[in-house]
Amino acid sequence: MAWLSQIPDCRLPTAACPMKHAVATVDEVPPGRHKIVEVVGRSIGVFNVGGEFFALRNSCPHQGGPLCAGRVSGFVIAETPGEYQYSRQGEILRCPWHGWEFDIRTGQSWFDPAKVRVRRYDVTVTPGGGATNEPPPAPGLAPGPYVAETYDVSVDQQLIMVDVPG
Ligand code: FES
Repeated sequence: MAWLSQIPDCRLPTAACPMKHAVATVDEVPPGRHKIVEVVGRSIGVFNVGGEFFALRNSCPHQGGPLCAGRVSGFVIAETPGEYQYSRQGEILRCPWHGWEFDIRTGQSWFDPAKVRVRRYDVTVTPGGGATNEPPPAPGLAPGPYVAETYDVSVDQQLIMVDVPG
């Protein structure tokens, strides 16, 4: 991390600004890529989605899996057999442990309640984790019960800055 020595002191956490942490240069995280960094004892994934930066905690709210090591993809929607629509390429992160899918932009998990089936038992699926005002990213999806922890990200003179409370 040779670039750290080039950062003026005002870019590192200070008493005046204790939350902003320089974690990488913009060049280190090109579009479609991400980088996992350690900030204040937290593992955080910084993602570049089409030139916009987002940061999520690298801990799945389901059972603590390494969320940011998961596969980045989009949504596949099929209203009828044989017809598929793919949307939001590069914006959906799938946890490597059990496959819950999270919106990289918001941390919200999404799932398709129509595909939740259990034989011989009545099943009720209710969204948890608080209400969201977000519109579903694709028809037929409902908010999942999990929301990954997110952080504000900004770019200052080619440095990616992540706001992490102390
Ligand atoms: S720990 Fe991530 S889906 Fe279960």
